[in-house]
Amino acid sequence: MEKCTVVFNPVKKSIIVKKGANLLEVARKAGIFIDAPCGGKGNCGKCRVKVVSGEHQMEFTPLLKEEELKNGIRLACLTFIEGDMVVEIPHVDAVEGIFVEDIKPGDEKSERIEKACKMLTEQGFKKDSGAFSAYLKLPSPTLDDNVADLERLKRELRKKYGINNPVCSLNVMKTIPAKLREGDFRVRGLILKDKYSCEVVGLDGFYTDGIYGICADIGTTTVAVNLVDLTTGEIIAFASSANLQIQYGGDVISRIIYSGEEEGLDRLKKSIVDGTINPLINKLILKNNVKRENIILCVFAGNTTMSHLFLGIDPANIRLEPYIPVFKECPELKAKDVGINVNPEAKVILLPNVASYVGGDIVSGILASGIWAQDENILFLDLGTNGEIVLGNRDYLLSCACSAGPAFEGGEISCGMRAAPGAIESIKIDRETFEPSINVLGDIKPKGICGSGLIDLIAEMFLSGIIDSKGKISREVSSDRIRYDEDLDVMEYVLVRDKDSYDGRDITINEIDIDNLLRAKAAVYSGLSVLLNSAGLTLRDVDKIIIAGGVGSNLHIRNAINIGLLPDVDESKYYYMGNSSLIGAYLCLLFQEARDKAKEISDSMTYIELSTFPFYMEEFIKACFIPHTDLNLFPGVVGLLEKNKRR
Ligand code: FES
Repeated sequence: MEKCTVVFNPVKKSIIVKKGANLLEVARKAGIFIDAPCGGKGNCGKCRVKVVSGEHQMEFTPLLKEEELKNGIRLACLTFIEGDMVVEIPHVDAVEGIFVEDIKPGDEKSERIEKACKMLTEQGFKKDSGAFSAYLKLPSPTLDDNVADLERLKRELRKKYGINNPVCSLNVMKTIPAKLREGDFRVRGLILKDKYSCEVVGLDGFYTDGIYGICADIGTTTVAVNLVDLTTGEIIAFASSANLQIQYGGDVISRIIYSGEEEGLDRLKKSIVDGTINPLINKLILKNNVKRENIILCVFAGNTTMSHLFLGIDPANIRLEPYIPVFKECPELKAKDVGINVNPEAKVILLPNVASYVGGDIVSGILASGIWAQDENILFLDLGTNGEIVLGNRDYLLSCACSAGPAFEGGEISCGMRAAPGAIESIKIDRETFEPSINVLGDIKPKGICGSGLIDLIAEMFLSGIIDSKGKISREVSSDRIRYDEDLDVMEYVLVRDKDSYDGRDITINEIDIDNLLRAKAAVYSGLSVLLNSAGLTLRDVDKIIIAGGVGSNLHIRNAINIGLLPDVDESKYYYMGNSSLIGAYLCLLFQEARDKAKEISDSMTYIELSTFPFYMEEFIKACFIPHTDLNLFPGVVGLLEKNKRR
């Protein structure tokens, strides 16, 4: 069998592979990150690499322009190795940055968290994480008091803290003699206690202090982590980054498919734990001078597929009828079982799922939203990668998952990106000149468009007459920003010209992107219609609508209504909650009773499988138009269009 050597620059990593191997697959094997939201199907055009030298073949794709081909640009997933090669990997936004932020009192994030804590305390929940430092002064052993070290420690814990027979792992036991004698029998025990048991998870010097926890939202696209002081409840800092699994596909389905490939499951598990979560934790503890051993409690929330992949459990049956996950509620684990780089004995809690496509992140969000304590009918929409919807109040909770795909986090959109520095987060288009004005996250040139920007863009293009209700770009509009892409045979609108963008390429949106976005918004709106219908309710019965998820905090509700993503109801009914899953995980970190509540929510929530509703498809097709085929549902949008006509 003929072998070839492939060198990846700038990291200078080389790998020997057999001739004919697929370049994307080879990069994955070599541990090289290449963005691949479509999972290697050749649809998204994001796996661009530059072939510096070497024989290869690439299948035809209309996604690369002639100029790019001339410059050696290839799509890795369509490229096959024919000889020794040198390949240059572009700087990829997805892995480029871990975004770290201090949470200050009074800012938006901390206000949302405070509000959720207040809601829990008003419901009678007691703030008690179960983690504490036990400061112990043990009598030194003598010939008369020759009790063994472990028993001596336990005796003092019983005397001072009323703790009977705490558990102590072999690893901790091994440290006891040295730790006791180092501090002249003064020691700090790191204790985790709940209603069933108590464990000594570490020993430390008497005068050191600080015990910490981690709470995290494991999103399909983005992972967000808080480092929390467990004594005060203060969030020391927040960090987020892309989920490194996006190199294996942008949505849960492509990840499940990839997990079935050789080494697929192992690579997915490593990407999320070693490639994403541990680097985020490292960054947080280094920046804040926190000792890893002092992090003794972790709470994670993720959708059902992410929960499986986080534990390295095969998710295959989630996507096969009748859609059965391996587990709904995961037993408590230790950090060392999962590979989380904190105190190895730290307790790891993974919030319970509801069903195949409604997971612990939604349970966590519902916990934080407080819907379960309200009399009003509340709609909760999580707009991230895919969309999950919950309808309910203190008496019932109904949920469904819409296959919206990753469009609202910028996935499968040619110039889409997640809400990170360089993302265009809001857009306006002049009705006369069709010139856009944009807002970019961070102090850099624009790199792409995130969810809130995409929603603005579709709404603005529609209201200014650039696109019609089917999302087709008009050839009548006179602007040099509107042009025909011969290779793809579609019209496109240039939002940012090459000279003004971060990487010197035009930032555009074409009719294929618009179609993807319309399908995504239709999936959400039709899901919402079916959910209301199955509860025997109409929009008039809904008192409040909570929006959560990774769509971006700059979401303009009015524009989301204008494109028919959200219902056309009084805007004062809407409330944007941000990352509700992370807030819920924080609550579970600090309130033991919140963990029980999460379990109760997971058990009581009814999951509705949309595909079993005969009229779901009909609703979906109607919602694929802007805003909808039934304009009576969108009186506000009709009003805006009429106002435009009168101009
Ligand atoms: S086009 Fe190659 S991964 Fe999407």
